[in-house]
Amino acid sequence: MKLDTRVFPDLDALSRAAVEEVLRVVADSVAARGRSAIALAGGHTPARMYALWAAEYNAQTPWDKVHLFWGDERFVPQNDSLSNYRMARESLIARVPIPAANVHPVPTNFEQPRQAADAYETELRKFFGAAPPAFDVQLLGLGGEGHTASLFPGSPALDEKRRWVAAVRAPAEPPDRLTLTPVVLNCGRNTFFLVAGENKRKILAALRSEPDSKPSEYPAARIRPTGRVLWFLDQAAAG
Ligand code: 6PG
Repeated sequence: MKLDTRVFPDLDALSRAAVEEVLRVVADSVAARGRSAIALAGGHTPARMYALWAAEYNAQTPWDKVHLFWGDERFVPQNDSLSNYRMARESLIARVPIPAANVHPVPTNFEQPRQAADAYETELRKFFGAAPPAFDVQLLGLGGEGHTASLFPGSPALDEKRRWVAAVRAPAEPPDRLTLTPVVLNCGRNTFFLVAGENKRKILAALRSEPDSKPSEYPAARIRPTGRVLWFLDQAAAG
């Protein structure tokens, strides 16, 4: 598949470019629809971007119009060190004046992951209405085996046709996770993959050599949104 890439010397430059691109989309979506809905990514890579956003782009962000959601979450308490919400809270949310009502974390305070998935879908429907949501920006990462959000290779959630949020078992720590499904992720207006580090080089090469003719085994290649897709790479990942 062809990737529309932007390559930066390091994670810092990548992160800065990503915030600036997000802010351009925020301005456009606020002008067009009065608000901007962003799905955040978890993992390590976006932490630098979130911290930069808070430190250097706080004043130019219309926080009262920005709504933060998550593309995926680990089924752990919100203060757990593995929580994607916690990472975003510590690096970004706690440092900026975003109204609490604009922050929409995936709930994890249920007995079963499935209940949490249902609750998040209800929350999304309340915000977006009946049709599958088109996020103004969805940030995504790339795992070494091609996973994105918490859609791992072979996951039944990849073939989901109806549900917006799935409870999945991942071959990763922690295994219980909640993820947006392709029903939602394929509607994104702007999808920005953030990929940094030499250990992503191999999977990027594999994605690039995938034929477009058949469904890929790599979940990241199965996300084919109607909107714009950009790959923000650092030099180490790009090779
Ligand atoms: C998660 C993710 C996941 C992540 C990739 C890349 O919750 O783990 O959202 O899809 O984006 O695993 O993670 P790194 O940025 O840590 O390499």
